[in-house]
Amino acid sequence: MRRIRTARAMRVWAEERHAAGDRIGFVPTMGALHEGHLSLIRAARRSTGAVAVSIFVNPLQFGPSEDLVRYPRALAQDLGLCRKESVDVIFTPKVAELYPPGFETTVTVIQLTRRFEGLSRPGHFEGVATVVTKLFNIVRPDRAFFGQKDYQQALVVRQLVKDLDLDTTISVCPTVREADGLALSSRNRFLSLPERRAATILYRALSAGRALIQQGERSARKVRQAMVRLIRSEPLSRLDYAAVADADMLEEFHVVRGRAVLLLAVRIGKIRLIDNMVVTCH
Ligand code: PAJ
Repeated sequence: MRRIRTARAMRVWAEERHAAGDRIGFVPTMGALHEGHLSLIRAARRSTGAVAVSIFVNPLQFGPSEDLVRYPRALAQDLGLCRKESVDVIFTPKVAELYPPGFETTVTVIQLTRRFEGLSRPGHFEGVATVVTKLFNIVRPDRAFFGQKDYQQALVVRQLVKDLDLDTTISVCPTVREADGLALSSRNRFLSLPERRAATILYRALSAGRALIQQGERSARKVRQAMVRLIRSEPLSRLDYAAVADADMLEEFHVVRGRAVLLLAVRIGKIRLIDNMVVTCH
């Protein structure tokens, strides 16, 4: 496995792989890798000849009051995991490599980012869209892999690839969960034991919402209320948002139909967790 730190060397690698006839699979991450990330790496390994993973804690996507400084970093362990998964190249640029002095261009996906995570975290998706565009221009992936766990992020990336004519196909892979349903996240390690137990409320609320829809409930308000009630029943949790929305456009439903996504953002103590579930109405 090669470790590359500069955009220039990364581009040379990509050119060489393409010249050799390989298709490049790419998994962008912020490190502190867990089974969720590894599932994306394995999907890339299965479907492409050369696999690149980036580890870059992107300052542009963190708000001033967010956890950039506290964001977990575990580079030595991450490198070991990538080696085990037969990753071909790991791209670990420094902040100044991607954002040198004088950097002043950003990418904005307009409508899709106006709600949910975009509302709660102003500037977040602009940071994501900008770094993903840059990484795609540097790594030149034929296919890039994202997790359903960050549902709105995957839609934002799909949209920017389409709108900016980027030559990459986006694959979205299922959310990897703990046995009790909690979605794996780099931030889970900050939960105390009681908080870790309380954190299963997201999965339980989503499952309850999904069950209601599957039983024929079509009032989005009732489905949402059922999720909110459950979240409120957990004393360690504080609801940020709960929504029942169209799975493609993320517009909130009055009457649930077609493919719906249930979205939750909940604070457990100081840790903010998000999760979602897609339900198809028949
Ligand atoms: P990060 O949070 O490190 O996540 C990297 C990728 O792993 C994302 O596509 C995310 O959706 C996926 N992922 C996280 N937890 C998962 C889980 N439990 N199951 C399946 N996939 C999971 O998302 C980011 O980094 C950044 O915003 C990034 C796209 C790298 C841009 O900076």
